[in-house]
Amino acid sequence: MLTLLKLLKDGKFHSGQDLGAALGVSRSAVWKQLQQMESALGVEVHKVRGRGYRLAQPISLLNEAEIQAAAPSLDWPVQIFDSIDSTNVAAIRSINLRVPVPLIVLAERQTAGRGRRGRKWVSPFGENIYYSLALRIEGGMRQLEGLSLLVGLAVLKTLKEVGVSAVGLKWPNDVLVGRRKIAGVLLELLGDPADVCHVVIGVGLNVNMRASDEVDQEWTSVYIETGIPSNRNELVARLSTNIAAYLAVHQDQGFGAFREEWEKNHLWQGRAVSLFTGLEATEGVVLGIDSQGALLLDVGGVQKSFSGGELSLRLRDDT
Ligand code: ATP
Ligand code: BTN
Repeated sequence: MLTLLKLLKDGKFHSGQDLGAALGVSRSAVWKQLQQMESALGVEVHKVRGRGYRLAQPISLLNEAEIQAAAPSLDWPVQIFDSIDSTNVAAIRSINLRVPVPLIVLAERQTAGRGRRGRKWVSPFGENIYYSLALRIEGGMRQLEGLSLLVGLAVLKTLKEVGVSAVGLKWPNDVLVGRRKIAGVLLELLGDPADVCHVVIGVGLNVNMRASDEVDQEWTSVYIETGIPSNRNELVARLSTNIAAYLAVHQDQGFGAFREEWEKNHLWQGRAVSLFTGLEATEGVVLGIDSQGALLLDVGGVQKSFSGGELSLRLRDDT
């Protein structure tokens, strides 16, 4: 099915006969495969009598050589899957198999893309970036502090570089344009965080997605914000370059060096919020973050700090 998609990726017409010849199947088998492709991958194919078939939109697929050409100074190998359960899970499998890291894992689609707390990350074929970076961490807890917030900053920089100017952050892991989510970050840890461990930095970034019945909150994409389809290989190269640059400073100076930059980009700075741990809510006003990336709230006149993967922030007017 993907061979057929690759033959059609330029968005130009291809006759049933040519497609059949390239695949070594009959014209009616091509027709069947096209129908399967439309329903399985959610791509739209136009059929015109006498001219053949073409994709409604040309599609540019992920390609390691293109990514490396766009980020020549980066020497992280890239593994690309047409379809995978989750790039984070694939990266974890690679770490367990002792595949050398750093390693970038990408996929055209995820069948079990995951967000925080077992939530689903909607991951249609060929439209967005599903990115996981596997790293070995040797410096103990300090090298992990604020890491997920730092990656948010790298995603934000990448988005600004391609013209999504109104983008901001929501503690701890969301990248939003106004109220609409454009990207999310999910870090997963393996081993002993106090000693040598591995971390998988997962980034889901909506790039060319135009419609989705599946995402159950407000969302947007680079295409929706800029009106321009993006080359995902170039975006992956930018994202990796930015993550590498932020990581290098973090390794030397710790997260404290980014605190101000992060707060400047926090969309909910100074806002009245409810912070949920399960069903329990704490009401407060966002003061900012500390040098470890913990959230600082003014709770009834007292400054309190909050950290941990189970916390969820909502604007007070929204709850
Ligand atoms: P919080 O982290 O504060 O609870 P959240 O509601 O965004 O915020 P997360 O666990 O961070 O929750 O993210 C998962 C959520 O993101 C999903 O429940 C869904 O609402 C949303 N989501 C899933 N796929 C996408 C996507 N491709 N684009 C934007 N949002 C998505
Ligand atoms: C969130 O907002 O909850 C985080 C979403 C993270 C999604 C990315 S997509 C690539 C990587 N693989 C996954 O299964 N999840 C992350």
